[in-house]
Amino acid sequence: MTISINLKRIIDDSYPIHIGSLPEINFEGKVAVLTNPKVAGLHLQTLLSTLKAKEVYVITIPDGEQYKTLDTIESILDRMFDHRLNRKSLLIAFGGGVIGDMGGFAASLYNRGIDFIQIPTTLLSQVDASVGGKTGVNNRFGKNLIGAFHQPRAVYIDPSFLSTLAPREFGAGVAEIVKMAVTFNLSFFEWLENNDLREGDNLQHAIKMAVETKARVVEADEKEQGLRAALNYGHTFGHVIENETHYETYLHGESVAIGMVMANDLACEMGLMSFEEAMRIKTLLGRYDLPLTYPIHDVEKFYQTFFLDKKSADSTITFILPRGIGGVEITDAIDAVAVKKTLSKFQGINA
Ligand SMILES: NC(=O)c1ccc[n+]([C@@H]2O[C@H](COP(=O)([O-])OP(=O)(O)OC[C@H]3O[C@@H](n4cnc5c(N)ncnc54)[C@H](O)[C@@H]3O)[C@@H](O)[C@H]2O)c1
Repeated sequence: MTISINLKRIIDDSYPIHIGSLPEINFEGKVAVLTNPKVAGLHLQTLLSTLKAKEVYVITIPDGEQYKTLDTIESILDRMFDHRLNRKSLLIAFGGGVIGDMGGFAASLYNRGIDFIQIPTTLLSQVDASVGGKTGVNNRFGKNLIGAFHQPRAVYIDPSFLSTLAPREFGAGVAEIVKMAVTFNLSFFEWLENNDLREGDNLQHAIKMAVETKARVVEADEKEQGLRAALNYGHTFGHVIENETHYETYLHGESVAIGMVMANDLACEMGLMSFEEAMRIKTLLGRYDLPLTYPIHDVEKFYQTFFLDKKSADSTITFILPRGIGGVEITDAIDAVAVKKTLSKFQGINA
């Protein structure tokens, strides 16, 4: 005997992404703000002065990628229970991508899922991590391997929070902006070549363009069945670099920048990109003091580490290769010889 359970449904998970000064946020129920001591010290008063709710609790967790773990999630949930949050409560993730990913994940778990809002405070999280509903934590097998798709109810991007950001963190965010332009938008790339993001209103325009690009990609492929994987351009190589350097030498965006340079080399080898196009991308990244090379000590070991990445389905490696500037190819049909040829060009090169 078979009993069917029909759960076909239409879910509307649409949400607004505001770019500009943080508006007043009004909420009738209880609100938990998740943040870390650094962001709280710099900007919590600004948030609290715009937040009107029945009760507001601030949950602070230690700063750093090494705390993006299930243990920290458990401690966040404990605090939410201490404050007797209920199904109608709201969580606000207030910080960089680490806070955003963990806040979203805790919200997806608490009482089987409550609403949350993203208020990203790093450039990387404003242009990338806060949009699209990927939430989660790392474990000893790798990065972001545990998590859920849980879309925020709204995202508030206030570029004024970035005034306190360290220069390297700024560069790491620029790498993700360049990633969006190279894969999806030639005219945005050309605009980036002609405008310095440290001047005038240029940054706000670039944030808007990057978020617009990400929003359209997420709409087309929320659960990363295809197109959304293009946003991993630079990440296949970058993850190996992060792994080899134990996440200590480079910020995530910095390893993505090197990864893009490597992916471009492979794209040139495959006839997808010209050497001149690869140079234009390298020049743009270099303007923001991003690292552009990495000394590979052992090509074979580097190559084998690709297979630890969860985006590599079993025995194949998925490469995201730009097709010129403004186009992208997602492929698992690149043969090992070509990949190792690219890797060997970085062998022993000092960064
Ligand atoms: N969910 C997604 O789609 C997605 C996409 C990209 C990256 N991510 C994740 O995002 C994380 C990286 O995010 P990140 O680069 O924002 O790192 P992060 O959250 O660690 O922030 C970087 C540093 O900047 C500090 N900081 C935050 N706001 C600040 C401000 N306004 N002024 C001064 N300092 C500030 C933080 O306390 C931290 O020390 C990674 O865990 C990555 O996996 C997620």
